[in-house]
Amino acid sequence: TSSQLLAGKKVIITAGPTREHIDPVRYMSNHSSGKMGYAIAEAALKLGAEVCLVSGPVNLNAPTQASLHKVNTAEEMLSAVMAEVQDCDIFIGCAAVADYKPTQAVDHKIKKSNIELTLTFVRNPDILASVAALPKPPFTVGFAAETQNVAQYAKDKLARKKLDLIAANDVSRSDIGFNSDENALTLYWADGEQPLAKANKQQIALQLLEAVAQRFNQKHS
Ligand code: C5P
Repeated sequence: TSSQLLAGKKVIITAGPTREHIDPVRYMSNHSSGKMGYAIAEAALKLGAEVCLVSGPVNLNAPTQASLHKVNTAEEMLSAVMAEVQDCDIFIGCAAVADYKPTQAVDHKIKKSNIELTLTFVRNPDILASVAALPKPPFTVGFAAETQNVAQYAKDKLARKKLDLIAANDVSRSDIGFNSDENALTLYWADGEQPLAKANKQQIALQLLEAVAQRFNQKHS
């Protein structure tokens, strides 16, 4: 039955934002709520998977049956993922990983003064691309949050990061995405696509995983 579509599969999901330290009391982050990633974790458990949830700081309760790794920075998220990825069947990168971190985290609080303050940033590792570039990668799923040319950017990302599937959402719409309880996605893979109409994130998560299971079975048949 479809109720155990992911039985025996280990699924790793990244969720939420990352926090990049500026000094001991300050950080740079983003508005990711983690709702989509947590909904995917719940749905994967319902479908019988063993779930590992690697989460940035969010105000959500993780499903108790998931193995939870709480992290702050992108570097910590990468380490947690790499420690678990060996026997993983499906990796879903849903986290809003900060693209940059401060060049140097200062070990004392930055004091204010009357002159301009300049911070410089360096690129963070791309967790999703790192997983997809492994010698024996799991089935790799990414998200693409775009405000324009959604289909084209998503397909480019699918190819560039060597993903098996990408879920694109239009974040210029205020009724879906980010802090919202609802979402609408279009899934793209190498030779197909499938729209998932606006629905609550629990329903979207289940539909996403049904499509993932189908593509996964196709790939391994
Ligand atoms: O390139 P972009 O940030 O738009 O790609 C988004 C996808 O890549 C998401 O699936 C996100 O979780 C993942 N990502 C990542 N590590 C980064 C940046 C993005 O895993 N440093």
